[in-house]
Amino acid sequence: MTKSKSILVTGGAGYIGSHTVVELYQAGYLPVIVDNLSRSNQSMLDGLHSILGVHVPFYQADCCDAQKLVEVIRRHDVACVMHFAAFKSVNESVANPLLYYRNNIDSLVAVLEAMRVTGVSDLVFSSSCTVYGQPDHIPVDELAPFKRAESPYGATKQMSERIIEDAIQLGLRAISLRYFNPIGAHPGSLIGELPIGVPNNLVPYVTQTAIGLREKLTIFGDDYNTPDGTCVRDFIHVCDVAEAHVKAMEYLQQQPSKHFLALNLGTGVGVSVKQLVETFIRVTGVNLNWVMGPRRDGDVEKVYANPELSASVLRWKSSRSLEQSLTDAWSWEKAIRKGI
Ligand code: UD1
Repeated sequence: MTKSKSILVTGGAGYIGSHTVVELYQAGYLPVIVDNLSRSNQSMLDGLHSILGVHVPFYQADCCDAQKLVEVIRRHDVACVMHFAAFKSVNESVANPLLYYRNNIDSLVAVLEAMRVTGVSDLVFSSSCTVYGQPDHIPVDELAPFKRAESPYGATKQMSERIIEDAIQLGLRAISLRYFNPIGAHPGSLIGELPIGVPNNLVPYVTQTAIGLREKLTIFGDDYNTPDGTCVRDFIHVCDVAEAHVKAMEYLQQQPSKHFLALNLGTGVGVSVKQLVETFIRVTGVNLNWVMGPRRDGDVEKVYANPELSASVLRWKSSRSLEQSLTDAWSWEKAIRKGI
């Protein structure tokens, strides 16, 4: 199949980036990956090859290197940039804030600089619901004000949105996708989330405990003001998130110059941590060892998306269930322990 347009996917070997590479390719585009593999590895590229049956172009390079980005954009006549490459660990960002500002902000500026030099106008950016902090109203919509970020990581996402909003004056069209809690993996278990070291995020911790890598899962806090006392989140299948990126890019192509929009990517349904754990046990039949523990610093009590704007603008909504997401996450965990 001849591919209509090349799309630069920074961080395309990462969790959400790799799933988007699949969706792009299957929608008729040629994804071109730039990734330094600092938080991922070759196995994700091998997985992409197995799913797609082709090697998509891949450059092992740092996205802070604007010159390299210019070179890749020119070589492939790139029509749009999807910028996923960033660090995302809240704890690590607290311990090493400068690393986060250096990496997440520099790479965004380098991407924008490369777009300006080459005349590429369209950007799809990976943002996070972390920009809202604990919103005053939930479900939270895109007009909710930003609260002071709880971590340097969160601050980089807030700053990034501001930088992009300013940069559209250069003639860009940009969309910032605020992910809620992406979980799960591609069906077939050839790509998925590859946490480095002990996972911070809930679902990788659940699956690693279930497979015997961790002794027990601790649920952080049961005294929140929520129906069962545990935190509430909006868990969304990573393939739903990936599909929204293709829609976002196609939407941008219809917009006038200097257009900026931020959209929530969530299901609109709040699920408690305890409910998620119970659902995992039910759908997998695994006897998960879990205990209640104290609250984790910096956690938001409850947050889930108002997904109406993304539904109307993108003509998209999440379609995969929590059960499906957890089944896919579990299959992926079993696959990686077998060495895929
Ligand atoms: C976290 C970040 C968020 C970031 C996202 C990236 C915080 C406060 N927020 O979201 O900014 O965009 O990761 O992936 O860290 N939980 C447990 N036990 C565990 C792990 C988690 O009970 O072992 C609970 C947490 O307390 C939380 C929920 O599970 O209530 C979800 O946690 P997590 O997966 O880390 O996501 P967020 O905290 O929502």
